[in-house]
Amino acid sequence: MKIDLLQMVEAGGCSAKISPKQLEEILKFLPLTEDPDILVDIDTQDDAGVYRVNDELALVLTTDFFPPVCSDPFEFGQIAAANSISDVYAMGGTPVVALNIMMFPATKLPMEAYSEILRGGYDIASEAGVRIIGGHTIDDDPPKYGLAVVGYVNPQRIITNSGARPGDVLILTKPIGTGVILAAQKLGLAKDDDLSEALKQMKMLNKRGAEVMKRFNISGATDITGYGLAGHALKMAKASNVTINLNMNSVPLIGETYKLLDEGCIPGAAFRNLDYAELNTWFDADLNYNLKMAAFDAQTSGGLLMSVPSGIAERVLSDLHSAGLKSSSIIGSVIGKDEKILYLYM
Ligand code: CO
Ligand code: CO
Ligand code: CO
Repeated sequence: MKIDLLQMVEAGGCSAKISPKQLEEILKFLPLTEDPDILVDIDTQDDAGVYRVNDELALVLTTDFFPPVCSDPFEFGQIAAANSISDVYAMGGTPVVALNIMMFPATKLPMEAYSEILRGGYDIASEAGVRIIGGHTIDDDPPKYGLAVVGYVNPQRIITNSGARPGDVLILTKPIGTGVILAAQKLGLAKDDDLSEALKQMKMLNKRGAEVMKRFNISGATDITGYGLAGHALKMAKASNVTINLNMNSVPLIGETYKLLDEGCIPGAAFRNLDYAELNTWFDADLNYNLKMAAFDAQTSGGLLMSVPSGIAERVLSDLHSAGLKSSSIIGSVIGKDEKILYLYM
């Protein structure tokens, strides 16, 4: 029996996230805990929490899980694991151990499908050097999978979304468009090449990008997932108290993403993300509608967005290219806080 996980879901991957607006509503009632050893918490809505153990060691803790983003169970496991581990890389940490988080309808698919998902997760975890040492399973429909990951970081070397400084330039390490391509695939509109490129990008760990960030002592970064490039850039600008300019002409897109957007293939998550960001964003009058929606396309397991002092940007870029991250591009800049905190240019 050929298993197709996509038949079981409406929105998969990071498109299934709660809208950022709703999340802020929910989180605002949570008390913030006062503890000098909490180095990063939800206050800045960063990728992971960081807790200091001693002067040399802090723990990076994060979890992510979502419904299937592709048909094949093994590939879904790989993508979910790469996505979960990414938040540790985005904060400059070294991922070390993880727990499986899995929900699935026990009677709907052969058990083999679920072991394949887990096998995919182990495959990527071992590529990252992460040991999976436990987990938890719930009977639920549609299936969901991901990891809770613990990493190490030197407390002096934490990379955060609040580390962007005026004068920096922004580098993105993976092309965007996974939300559009996956939606197009459901409608039978995506080209095979584009789909396999999207799957390849989503399975790719942000490990090499993180190694380059550490080499250059970069202090500001985040990874691009469910809120889209613009949504995560906005969160970074907010946390850093700066304004971010994105030049949408410079943003690399996967395959025919632009054409698909032009044909009207715009997933609902993009409108939700736009709705969240609109009030704080200025849109260039020349900004093309398709590129505007690309900026808000929900990415699953997207690349790193790093804020890099302009003097070293070319060297960082060339190291990223040498590390095999060929799509890495300078896509914007950071300026002092202005009227709006995100500017989308053409
Ligand atoms: Co993240
Ligand atoms: Co996350
Ligand atoms: Co348990």
